[in-house]
Amino acid sequence: ETRTPGFANPTTHSQRAFSPYAEFTSRWTRADAMQIKAMSDPTAPSRQSSLPARYTMPAIPQSFPDTNKRVWVWDTWTLTDARSNQISYRGWEVIFSLVADRDAGYSFDERHTHARIGYFYRKAGVPASQRPANGGWKYGGHLVPDGASAQIFTDKSFSSQTEWSGSTRIFTGGKVQLFYTDVAFYRNADGTDRKPYDPRITTSLGKIHADARGVWFTGFGKHKQLLVPDGNYYQDNQQNPYVNFRDPFTFTDPRHPGKTFMVFEGNTAVQRGDRACTGADLGYDPRDPYKESLQTVMDDGAQYQMGNIGLAVADNKSLTKWHFLAPLLSANCVTDQMERPQIYISGGKYYLFTISHRSTYAHGLDGPDGVYGFVGKGVRSDFEPLNRGSGLALGNPTNLNFAPGTPYAPDYNQSPYAYQSYSHYVQPGGLVESFIDSIGTPDSFRRGGSLAPTVKLKISGATTAVDRTYGHRGLGAYGDIPANRTTPINY
Ligand code: FRU
Repeated sequence: ETRTPGFANPTTHSQRAFSPYAEFTSRWTRADAMQIKAMSDPTAPSRQSSLPARYTMPAIPQSFPDTNKRVWVWDTWTLTDARSNQISYRGWEVIFSLVADRDAGYSFDERHTHARIGYFYRKAGVPASQRPANGGWKYGGHLVPDGASAQIFTDKSFSSQTEWSGSTRIFTGGKVQLFYTDVAFYRNADGTDRKPYDPRITTSLGKIHADARGVWFTGFGKHKQLLVPDGNYYQDNQQNPYVNFRDPFTFTDPRHPGKTFMVFEGNTAVQRGDRACTGADLGYDPRDPYKESLQTVMDDGAQYQMGNIGLAVADNKSLTKWHFLAPLLSANCVTDQMERPQIYISGGKYYLFTISHRSTYAHGLDGPDGVYGFVGKGVRSDFEPLNRGSGLALGNPTNLNFAPGTPYAPDYNQSPYAYQSYSHYVQPGGLVESFIDSIGTPDSFRRGGSLAPTVKLKISGATTAVDRTYGHRGLGAYGDIPANRTTPINY
């Protein structure tokens, strides 16, 4: 018997913990991810979501306020300590965002080759109801001096060089360490690659300053490359010119005192297109009547989607030397991108949250843009995908019965909210921040580039649910990204 008529059962995962240094990589299998289709309502009509409300972010009004008039804002993170607490500094809350100038002559969709890390601040301790509708974040400018992030690339013939996501840690004395993705593109005038793009995990040190009027930073002039893909655990740009390697997030684990770890987005290290998926990646019980055949799945091209979530460990106290450990999770023949991963420790459990797109699923699978989550008993575990074994934690309202469309060209029948937000980050207490991408139907849609309303997830055991009593029917204030600590601890 299967749980949902017509669908195979998910894979059994024990949640068992392994040493972070072990050669064990857990799998988000096709059988697991297939549960998202299994829970989608096949009769949901045009423009309605087909997904359970429990796992769906409430719809964001198209009348959202801009976070800032000068810059678009997307991926956003906080000033954190080693345990992902959000630290206010001398009475100020601080966030970091990828930003791009709104008036520089390129479109919102072209922002990725122009991204810079910007910072914003606002007074701490003010209730959301007393803040401006857009969250009241003051833009402080770029964090890294112009040109400084280019220094790690010896081949300076790039067509553009840009700063992608990461994380920012605060230490005593106002010392701030940035971990981010330093990226060089080598493109011809027609947009084709002259040489594959080159993403590298990089660090830089600076200092935070504050007075009664605001926050500013100094430093961040020296940049040090930490990690490039090794082609063994993590696919490199020779194996695949479209490789995903980015979004470092550092943390300490109470079970491994004195060590600092990093999770990041990677790909399984095979030659692009190799028929490299296995029966274990599919994850079906051999007796399951609805199992798929490996042959068919790969004849259909699912092996082009080989996402993983990487793990690295620091070799020194100053976090300037790192080495790779085996990937924590792979999604071979499932999805190509598991972005901005984070470890979230709560109730004695280790949650691995990541964001992913409808467009990066492998052939035969489907799911919304949003947050996916996995739970285990340690940083490295046989992770169980949350919520009926599926992995879906917080999706945009999406109708899987209709074509996806795109943020710049919505599909006529698709939910107007299918691309409402992305790049979610789970904060202490289950608060989730993200940015607005695109809201509306083909005849009337509005692009974002602003912070989305914060929502709240109730997280317990192997389940999550959107808290619809939070804010207004589940939608909190725009850009509500509060600090939960005034001083750094645990580093
Ligand atoms: C997520 C993401 C990140 C990357 C950034 C680039 O929105 O794809 O993985 O760092 O956007 O803009």
